[in-house]
Amino acid sequence: MNKRVITFLTASLFVTLLLTSALFAGDDENPCGMTKSLYERLGGVNAISMVVDEFVEILYVNEILNANPAIDKARKNIPMPALKFKVTGLICQVTGGPQAYTGRSMKEAHAHLNITEVEWAAMAADFKTVLDKFGVPEKEQAELFEIVGTTKADIVMPAGDGDGGDDGDSDGDGDGDSK
Ligand code: HEM
Repeated sequence: MNKRVITFLTASLFVTLLLTSALFAGDDENPCGMTKSLYERLGGVNAISMVVDEFVEILYVNEILNANPAIDKARKNIPMPALKFKVTGLICQVTGGPQAYTGRSMKEAHAHLNITEVEWAAMAADFKTVLDKFGVPEKEQAELFEIVGTTKADIVMPAGDGDGGDDGDSDGDGDGDSK
């Protein structure tokens, strides 16, 4: 075989391999063989907005959350579509989508709500219910819960606040003293 034929065959083999890997790319890969972002695996903004839509709907009728007067009051002030829009933007951004979240930080948005561990657990249970309903696979659910978990310290009030516990804030007004 002369050099030209060998070069041609090598190039053909390379192109064939590229095409084959593109056609038979796994679920976790783009057609170009790149690992898909969580955003892509979830189905992008269309799928994410549907999940958030349902999630916010069921959160608004969650009796554990509505029993907290601060949450109940804040909900009456923020239009539900605005909250859905903001949460969708945030989830898109943190999962690798092209959207940019422009709302407040999680600390700023939730500091006045006195959210407890029990309320956090109630929210997480609703989130799981919705993810199951939309058939989000376990792997993607685990990744989402890990991301959402990173916001917990900014959202849930420190243990002891509001209960006259051992944080020095024995009058429970959140200012760290007893007056
Ligand atoms: C028990 C858990 C949670 C409760 C009860 C809750 C409740 C609320 C309420 C009532 C508001 C409106 C606050 C106001 O305008 O005064 C709000 C805002 C918001 N929440 Fe949550 N939330 C929870 C967890 C989360 C989590 C886990 C995320 C996302 C990771 C999130 C994302 C947001 C966003 C993006 C806003 C809008 C911020 C803005 O207006 O700029 N929340 N939440």
